Amino acid sequence: MDWDKNQFDEEIRRIQQASDAGLKDIETPEDLETWRIEYLGTKGKVKAVMGDLQRVPGEFKAEFGKKLNLLKKEVQEKFEKIKNSLGKPAAAKGPIEDVTLPGIEPRIGHLHILTQTIQEISDIFGRMGFEVVYGPEVEDEQHNFVDLNIPAAHPARDWMDNFYINDDDGVMLRSQTSTVQIRVMENRQPPIRVVAPGRVYRPDEVDATHSFMFHQLEGLYVDEGVSMVDLKTCVDQFCKAYFGDEVATRFRPSFFPFTEPSAEVDLLFHYPDGSTKWIELGGCGMVDPNVLEAVNIDPEKYTGWAFGFGIERMVMRKHNVPDIRLLFESDVRFLKQF
Ligand code: DAH
Repeated sequence: MDWDKNQFDEEIRRIQQASDAGLKDIETPEDLETWRIEYLGTKGKVKAVMGDLQRVPGEFKAEFGKKLNLLKKEVQEKFEKIKNSLGKPAAAKGPIEDVTLPGIEPRIGHLHILTQTIQEISDIFGRMGFEVVYGPEVEDEQHNFVDLNIPAAHPARDWMDNFYINDDDGVMLRSQTSTVQIRVMENRQPPIRVVAPGRVYRPDEVDATHSFMFHQLEGLYVDEGVSMVDLKTCVDQFCKAYFGDEVATRFRPSFFPFTEPSAEVDLLFHYPDGSTKWIELGGCGMVDPNVLEAVNIDPEKYTGWAFGFGIERMVMRKHNVPDIRLLFESDVRFLKQF
């Protein structure tokens, strides 16, 4: 049987072209499998043409051996490539995801504005060398009144004005953070420089500026030679650090059983319309010698000052909150502003 070199070349090229053309119609793994069987299967076209090599005359065997191997390699490579791009059969089906659609934004919570404020003011006092301390909210009269030089007949001790827990033992919710002064001083000797943020409780009628529970920041500094100048400087520095440099402070003479002399601190605010107003921040003064004696600190050797400021007042002033109840009602629309 005559063998025609050109015809054999032509046969190889036809298989090449037909396999290429068939590739274009492949959309599913099933299409690909059909194609693979047609060309690469045991009875496929590539196998068949390779079998024809035995009829190639000796002088052309090497040349066509190479050509046939190349054909097989190319078809095999095309198969691998398209197989990878098709992926797994199951994944190839199913709905098409639109990855350009906006995602669902997760709601991220944050600390309550009061907590943020407590952290911020603690930071400011921390930078001035104050330690942050805490005391219990359930107290006894010794710490809430007696050691603070508040005698039994004092109107502040009236049972109507405090949350007593029992009838007869004086256990109560603390009405002021000044209790923490006592708790710190009864356990250590000067130098003492602490601030104590925390909740206090008073049976007040609730309105826009009063609540039965609110927060105070207590400050206490006891050492040798501490004077009222230190108090005024420290309070002024704090107010400027928290509210801004334009705020001014003023000290008005006042009275507290645990300080002598005592003062009330007011802040001057400048409003956008040009007007100004003095706002009361809290009380302060030089620690009364009776208080130092009650906790075994020698008042001949040491002096100190203390203050107690309302934290809600600071928050309301700084963030223009018109009603204290907003701070306690957990309305997310209000809280998420901060
Ligand atoms: N404890 C006082 C109150 O609740 C505030 C206060 C005044 C605290 C003077 C002090 C102080 O430490 O020195 O009204």
